[in-house]
Amino acid sequence: CRVALVGGGANAEHDVSLASAAAVRDALAPTHEVVALTIGRDGTWSGEHGTLSFAAAVAVVATCDVLLPAVHGPRGEDGTLAALADLAGVACVGSGVRAGALGMDKWVTKLVAAAVGVAVADGRVVRDVAEACADPRLPAVVKPVACGSSHGVRRVDTLTELREAVAAALELDDRALVEEVVVGREIDVAVLRRADGTTVVSPPLEIGHAGAVFDTATKYDGTARFVVPAALDPADAERLAADARTVVDALGCEGVARVDFFLTADGPVLNEVNTMPGLTAHSQVPQMFAAVGMTYPELVAELVAQARA
Ligand code: DAL
Ligand code: MG
Repeated sequence: CRVALVGGGANAEHDVSLASAAAVRDALAPTHEVVALTIGRDGTWSGEHGTLSFAAAVAVVATCDVLLPAVHGPRGEDGTLAALADLAGVACVGSGVRAGALGMDKWVTKLVAAAVGVAVADGRVVRDVAEACADPRLPAVVKPVACGSSHGVRRVDTLTELREAVAAALELDDRALVEEVVVGREIDVAVLRRADGTTVVSPPLEIGHAGAVFDTATKYDGTARFVVPAALDPADAERLAADARTVVDALGCEGVARVDFFLTADGPVLNEVNTMPGLTAHSQVPQMFAAVGMTYPELVAELVAQARA
């Protein structure tokens, strides 16, 4: 099986996507023919032998059986690479165009989740600083509507901080989300569609970190600790698994999706869904499935097999 493995990407998560793609490549290389492609920060494509025109890159993809878009964030995880695969007639790992686009948009994800009975934090979308400051509800968490790895995410306690955070979020997207602060344990649950048509819900993973929010620095400075399976009441664990499945079903995710929650005194509150979650061997999803005996190469091979099924 010939796999077009795309890493990088023209967004703030470029380096994380390179790391995911490198790890996936190592895992697949013994068993698959891997054709590595990289999207630069400026959107330029390259292959093993240097820069490729977009048309040449698409022609390479079209020679493959599967496209594996190890690209987190906008212009990758948002359905754009799934669209490219669709148009080229190549199977694609992970969510399709619709679920990728819905999951990338944190506001729409909340609307869908709330509609199917999954709790979400109160929040509103703003398009400029004045709109956010006209009705400040503090403290709040400010984030770009569509971005990843917590780029542009800040907790704010004052009007000045709100103003600065909204301006910073709007550097990364044309809309910002201003949400109430949710107090709870940070628990992730992954949902994997297997090639045989069954669905596996991972054990819950708890993130331990010292920051006010699990921000970009805390995510990648090596200080965060993952506990899997998280030590939870069985009732909470069941509820988290059920909510994760409900959200993934409602969005129509394929492959593996990681659903991030806060576990509050009143139960789980959805934070967001990642349709192409971090995929290094040390990232949450591989750790979650390792805890139930699925090795990292097995997980990656399963994703490729599911795309072809
Ligand atoms: N967006 C990062 C890669 C994650 O979800 O793990
Ligand atoms: Mg995310």
